[in-house]
Amino acid sequence: MKDASPTTVYLKDYEPFGYLVEDVHLTFRLAPNATRVLSRIRFAPNPATKTRDFFLNGENVTLISAKIDGAGVAPEITADGLRLEDAPDAPFTFEAEVEIDPAENTALEGLYMSNGMYCTQCEAEGFRKITYYPDRPDVMATFTVRIEGDLPVMLSNGNPAASGEGWAEWHDPWPKPSYLFALVAGELVAHEDRFTTASGRAVDLNLWVRPGDEHKCAFGMEALKKSMRWDEEVYGREYDLDVFNIVAVDDFNMGAMENKGLNIFNSAAVLASPETSTDANFERIEAIIAHEYFHNWTGNRITCRDWFQLCLKEGLTVFRDSQFTADMRSAPVKRISDVIDLRARQFPEDQGPLAHPVRPESFQEINNFYTATVYEKGAEVIGMLKRLVGDEAYAKALDLHFERHDGQACTIEDWLRVFEDATGRDMSQFKRWYSQAGTPRLSVADSYENGTYTLTFRQHTPPTPGQDQKAPQVLPIAVGLLGQNGEEIVPTTLLEMSEAEQSFDFPNMAQRPVPSILRGFSAPVVLEQCWDAERTAFLLAHDTDPFNRWDAGRQLARESLVAQITEGAAPDASYLDGIATLVSDEALDPAFRALMLSGPTQSEIAQILHERRHTPDPDAIFTSAEALGDAKAARLEHLLPAIKDATEIRAPYSPDADQAGKRALWSAALSLETRLDGGAAATAAFESADNMTIQLAALTCLVRAGADEDALAAFEAQWKDDRLVMDKWFAMQIAATAPENALPRARHLTEHPAFDLKNPNRFRAVIGAFAMNHAGFHRADGEGYDFLAGWLITLDAKNPQTAARMCAPFQSWTRYDADRRASMKAALERIAATPDLSRDMSEMVSRLLA
Ligand code: PHE
Ligand code: ZN
Repeated sequence: MKDASPTTVYLKDYEPFGYLVEDVHLTFRLAPNATRVLSRIRFAPNPATKTRDFFLNGENVTLISAKIDGAGVAPEITADGLRLEDAPDAPFTFEAEVEIDPAENTALEGLYMSNGMYCTQCEAEGFRKITYYPDRPDVMATFTVRIEGDLPVMLSNGNPAASGEGWAEWHDPWPKPSYLFALVAGELVAHEDRFTTASGRAVDLNLWVRPGDEHKCAFGMEALKKSMRWDEEVYGREYDLDVFNIVAVDDFNMGAMENKGLNIFNSAAVLASPETSTDANFERIEAIIAHEYFHNWTGNRITCRDWFQLCLKEGLTVFRDSQFTADMRSAPVKRISDVIDLRARQFPEDQGPLAHPVRPESFQEINNFYTATVYEKGAEVIGMLKRLVGDEAYAKALDLHFERHDGQACTIEDWLRVFEDATGRDMSQFKRWYSQAGTPRLSVADSYENGTYTLTFRQHTPPTPGQDQKAPQVLPIAVGLLGQNGEEIVPTTLLEMSEAEQSFDFPNMAQRPVPSILRGFSAPVVLEQCWDAERTAFLLAHDTDPFNRWDAGRQLARESLVAQITEGAAPDASYLDGIATLVSDEALDPAFRALMLSGPTQSEIAQILHERRHTPDPDAIFTSAEALGDAKAARLEHLLPAIKDATEIRAPYSPDADQAGKRALWSAALSLETRLDGGAAATAAFESADNMTIQLAALTCLVRAGADEDALAAFEAQWKDDRLVMDKWFAMQIAATAPENALPRARHLTEHPAFDLKNPNRFRAVIGAFAMNHAGFHRADGEGYDFLAGWLITLDAKNPQTAARMCAPFQSWTRYDADRRASMKAALERIAATPDLSRDMSEMVSRLLA
């Protein structure tokens, strides 16, 4: 489709709104099916523009009355807003009363209800479902909010202003866009604490939860205090209100939301206890609390001019939360985990039909652009900036950013200009990272002559939808050189590549060195080195860079799997030997050793095979991965008892990185042991577990071994009243089971009384987990595709945002064989042909089929 559909929005068409909003007063009269919202908004002509089109966004709101300067008006009402032809060209007050229906709001955007509690979600364009307003991020205003209702707790943004029987008022002194508005009302209890900022402001901290969840708050609160301190120490950013509220809600489309002074969290992203949460949950909760808190400066005080600039707040905030986690835990382990995630989620996006630049240039539905590219690649871009300019210049640039742009709605141009002004560096070529989609491929060749060692790089980015030609990008390539005995002879050095092809000399080398390239994954590229098994095994044994050492193991595993599949080779002995040496090296961090034991995902192998012009066969990939796992277990058998003994998982549980790393290694050993004993050790571990990390790890082993019937029943009986734990029960038994069981299980579980289409966590735990079972989803008969498509169609009618986000498993459809391709295409066409499909879903499906 070349012609733009009428609903496509383009970056190039940006125009400021014709009016400024000085302040906003809102009154909410809460009622489940008929909430009244009264607004009083002071508008003034915007001196920055001459267009005076008084159009206010509004969707699913019923206008009761409208006034200008106290006199009734009858605006023109359309499906997406309200227009007044003769709005004054001078300051005026607009008042409106509207009615909305939060109880019927299953899209979970705007004001909705979750278990009897009122809550809101306004990013990106949800405020227009609450009242008529210029719902765009460049319109910033102060808000005063009055909530009337018969509920014990009623919260909004900013500071509490006044309250009485049945009402509460809040005032937010900081001008903000409407997407940061929030309201919560319900029967809630607070876990309270206090924080004193560096300059002495006392801040009341509250984590609001439903009665019964009080015991799951302590960890989140500690994470919040650590985040507040860290942002002061590392970025010089202090909190700016008297209270900071966090609320946990069960029904939420995403992880959490940074509303000013009132963060709203998916309960899965904040509630934690050792009995109910895994180490991975604890780490993720700490990171999300930090992420939302950090948005207070990168997102709220400095916001986005328009939604094309989303990466301005998200890329930077993800980068900041990664730095925080690296500081709180292990930096190398965090880096490796981030790259695993990037390769698993962002690379397929960047290399398929959904590829888009970090700063997209058009969209139909902005909800479809909360992607791994905007978030995770956006964070990688910031990491590269920092690497290129250096830590000091980065700190200087950030100070300038906060000083220059506080209170503004900014663009990527503003952001890069700050770096130009702070460092004197020209950022025009670097800017391509924001405008060009696709993962650059970096190939490297080397030579050694007369004592000079030369590395020659070539970069090339394959075409992506709408972008046939790509120009060279600036690549920071961190390189170290090792001597033949494994000693480091040139420590990590940053090479700056800007041409399509470029050579770098290392003179005065007494011997031909072994290169360690792209240390720390210094740029988000696919590195194509001539395959050299010996050199890779050497790096696995000797590299001083933990990322590259880990990646050498990954490469060996990958090549082993490819050779197993395409040549019928046996699992690679040099890989198994290398791993055996590493995992028993007690000088290494257990968390790092656990990562060394993990193999590439089946989807990653499918991608590699496709690149090498082999049609991936999901069953063969599964079988080879199993064979490699079995070979690993056999090779490490004699080491497993010592590994498990050395990790002392019996210490009283603490979610810290140290203990978590030991449990990760212990669990990895248990999973290998299960391949040898059929589940005896895992059963014992399951029965004696006193924390969720070990209980779930053991249960996963049993599911993989097909020996799960009793354990699954016992787990369900124990946890049936805990929604978050039950989500794990649903997800894990589908994702980890043998491929032939995945679909029958998923189908069966959609009939479980606790399956709830309207709860995004539960829907993802069943339908989303099914798509993660690679060979189960890609069953040869195509029924896996039909199952997913059918459920996405059903969900789309209720919750388009969550449904559309779950189309991602289809994005690699063109890489499979003709039959599977035809089945996936048919499934997508079935979705496309559904009457009344949402804008979210129709945009996704048309991009997937383009
Ligand atoms: N802005 C949120 C975050 O990154 C994510 C989000 C987007 C939440 C849209 C809800 C809706 O923290
Ligand atoms: Zn964010």
